Amino acid sequence: MVELDWSNLAFSYRKTNAIIISRFKDGKWSEPEISNDFDFHLNAFAGVFHYANSCFEGLKAFRGADGKVRIFRPDENARRLIRSAARIGMAAPPEELFIRMCRMCVHENLDFLPPFGYNASLYIRPVLEGINPQINIVSSEEVMFAVMCLPVGTYADSKPLTPVSAVISRDFDRAAPNGTGAYKIAANYALAFYPYNAAHRLGYTELLFLDPATKTKVDEFGSSNFLAIKGDTYVTPLSDSVLPSITNKSLQTLAADLGLKVEKRVIPVEEIAEFDEIDACGTAVVITPVKSIDDKPRLEGDVVSRTWRMPSGDECGKVSRKLFQMIRGIQNGEEPDIHSWCYEL
Ligand code: PLP
Ligand code: COI
Repeated sequence: MVELDWSNLAFSYRKTNAIIISRFKDGKWSEPEISNDFDFHLNAFAGVFHYANSCFEGLKAFRGADGKVRIFRPDENARRLIRSAARIGMAAPPEELFIRMCRMCVHENLDFLPPFGYNASLYIRPVLEGINPQINIVSSEEVMFAVMCLPVGTYADSKPLTPVSAVISRDFDRAAPNGTGAYKIAANYALAFYPYNAAHRLGYTELLFLDPATKTKVDEFGSSNFLAIKGDTYVTPLSDSVLPSITNKSLQTLAADLGLKVEKRVIPVEEIAEFDEIDACGTAVVITPVKSIDDKPRLEGDVVSRTWRMPSGDECGKVSRKLFQMIRGIQNGEEPDIHSWCYEL
């Protein structure tokens, strides 16, 4: 095992041992190869470089309290990648190949899999890139599927469950009506850099996007889904421009196990005032409590039209903390995996 400061890992790039690569050409996927070369040698005219013929996934592997290595719900990520690839007309690896390559990637990089007890994990990043040379605006026929990974701590580089501030993005959208918000395609992320940079300059950690058609309903954060606790109910937006988060889906199951009601429904922006707890949820952010949300007509303008502060303020809410412990407990093998979510290596 490499020696790293496991308690202070950032969510940032670090070179590991190997990536796993398979290529799709003439209707078939090649046998996956293990490569120590982290530079892709691709044609300059590959679609990925021009038209973002690209989609990706994010999932995590954990070293458990019992020493076992678990990958969390890779079958769900495999199926979501298939959906994303179909949206941009690209071939995707079958579920079996996706899971096999994730296993190979974790196996080759075990040196970098954080030990149990540090709230750190191995973040797995599968990417699917259109690689045949092209100039016309069409889907790619040749595709490269690469699975890579790196050890990470918390997404916001703070202690787990540290509440963050958010701002509503009114003058920049992440998704379009009937667009691609519900798919994990690369193009959805580049367009959020500018408003994210502005939000960060203003001291906010997260950007909250509204439904792009009417700007009256909560959609999601740029990095994660939105969930709220209202009394004994878990509420999360029903919207066709939101990425179907595997973490959110899992938390909904755990919330129901806890005896909470689960509502997936339209959330009018004004309802934010009625929530007891709000969290961002996703693979990278896990559950990250939100302490305040500012609403501004223009992100970079001086006017703040309203601010919601969460009742629990700088403390993480009780239900959010419980849900965090439940999901992390299953991932670490401390709690029984009663829903059969973990794939042991
Ligand atoms: N929403 C967006 C825009 C994301 O990028 C992510 C991360 O994958 C999520 C939500 C959370 O999805 P998941 O829980 O599957 O990681
Ligand atoms: C993930 O949570 O896996 C993501 O892909 C989100 C990204 C902002 C890191």
